[in-house]
Amino acid sequence: MPAITMDQIVSLCKRRGFIFPGSDIYGGLQGTYDYGPLGVELKNNLKAAWWRANVYERDDMEGLDAAILMNRLVWKYSGHEETFVDPLVDCMVCKGRFRADRLKDARCLLHANKRPGECEGTFTEPRPFNMMFQTQIGPVADSDSFAYLRPETAQGIFVNFANVLATTSRKLPFGIAQIGKAFRNEINPRNFIFRVREFEQMEIEYFVKPGEEDAWHQRWLDDRLAWWRSLGLHSDNLQVYNTPADELAHYSKATFDLMYRFPIGFEELEGIASRTDYDLGSHSKDQERMQIMARVNPNADSTERLTYFDQESGQHIVPFVIEPSAGVDRGVLALLTEAYDEQQIKELKPERQQAVTDALDAFLKSVDRNDKLPAEQRDEVLAYGAAIRRDLPASLPQVQALIDMPGARGIELSKKLRGQADPAIDESFRTVLHLKPSLAPIKVAVLPLKRNQDEIVAIARQIRKDLQADGTMRTIYDDTGAIGRLYRRQDEIGTPFCVTVDFDTLGQGKDVTLKDTVTVRDRDSMQQERVPIGELQAYLKAKIV
Ligand code: GAP
Repeated sequence: MPAITMDQIVSLCKRRGFIFPGSDIYGGLQGTYDYGPLGVELKNNLKAAWWRANVYERDDMEGLDAAILMNRLVWKYSGHEETFVDPLVDCMVCKGRFRADRLKDARCLLHANKRPGECEGTFTEPRPFNMMFQTQIGPVADSDSFAYLRPETAQGIFVNFANVLATTSRKLPFGIAQIGKAFRNEINPRNFIFRVREFEQMEIEYFVKPGEEDAWHQRWLDDRLAWWRSLGLHSDNLQVYNTPADELAHYSKATFDLMYRFPIGFEELEGIASRTDYDLGSHSKDQERMQIMARVNPNADSTERLTYFDQESGQHIVPFVIEPSAGVDRGVLALLTEAYDEQQIKELKPERQQAVTDALDAFLKSVDRNDKLPAEQRDEVLAYGAAIRRDLPASLPQVQALIDMPGARGIELSKKLRGQADPAIDESFRTVLHLKPSLAPIKVAVLPLKRNQDEIVAIARQIRKDLQADGTMRTIYDDTGAIGRLYRRQDEIGTPFCVTVDFDTLGQGKDVTLKDTVTVRDRDSMQQERVPIGELQAYLKAKIV
């Protein structure tokens, strides 16, 4: 079952330590999120998979890690100072500031159930708002110390084009890949980590001979789609949007947006742009001698000609660029969305269901009556609660997401609801993240059947140490609950394998031939298999792909 709501993903992420709201203990900072112990593993695994596929497994690619702070002139000649703007409108009544082209994503500040414009408010004329964050370099604040935080990693690649070419002797076509932070002062950051003010990008600038760009554009689209599918994103959840001419960025001749079916609908996961010779041409000196095809601003500041000497024609040419640019955070969100599953594994006892229903009704009544709650939060909690109520018992696990919603935790009756819901969920449901094993934050959990049996504990701890020894399999030891509950916990964070050490391992079970073997439980099928300890490492490694 695909994720139904963003709230389920947000709740799981917070509950289990994937992702937390930024600066939470000080009331947060809008548009920022912190990755917790499991989130950082998942994010690192995604980035490593991208680097492996695009740098190591190809022979036409180099890597780069450029500085986040760059000379202001980079952003002048890239066109960002002039054109990296969103249209901003103010509502004359509620005083909210909104992105004029994204009103559907925003809410009126006075009427939480309405979008801006659906109320009695009127807007100012749209005006351009530049999304680059400004900062100052060094102790003196003057025009020379002014700088921006980079809004994309791409420009670090373009300004290093000549450096990479000189030090690697690459021939066209070739690419430069980079992963790094980018910052955008989004007018309305929204939808968890989908639209944030600080995020990471995985970008490739692929340089080709002029005239070959269309074929490479199509090839990169196919490659990138195949890669996302190889990570587990289902074809039905991926779409390609061929950007119409009037929506293209200033540098683009054509752009394919690779869209994923997030809980908010199909939205951009990665853009694959055909950037012509705009970037290298813009950042070059002596532009008049270079036959640049794109329209670029005259550059009186650059010290380099960003060209490539083409042996075949005996001429210096300005390469064209294909740019596959993916968001790491949106990648993480897509993987979580795709992997999220709630399964009912046992019938719920009627009296338990009744108790949860009563507690939910009481909770919703209390939310409805609470006039301290901001109207937007109250309406969202009530709408979600009503949807859960309608679909009980299948929707029961969503009660956790409901209680985790902004505003809901402060309602006294939420504790009572949690008290009724948690044991019912534990008894009859499991939440599973069907992450591809190589992406899972934790690959193996080693669980002792009895935590007060010294021999069992010693073997389990040794297995954990051995499995993790070569650094390829993040393995944990957990003895903090009954075995069924421990399995459930690992399912919820996507751990593909649980290894259980029991009395059979000690040779004290019914079947003495099982001495020195352990149980390996598969997350998805819940099937268990007996594996000799000596073969465990190889057995698991073969499955963690
Ligand atoms: N260098 C080209 C470029 O930056 P973009 O379409 O603006 O193109 C590329 O950004 C990718 O970066 C997007 O497809 C998206 O995945 C991610 N991205 C952009 N803005 C974002 C934001 N505010 N929050 C999270 N991810 C974002």
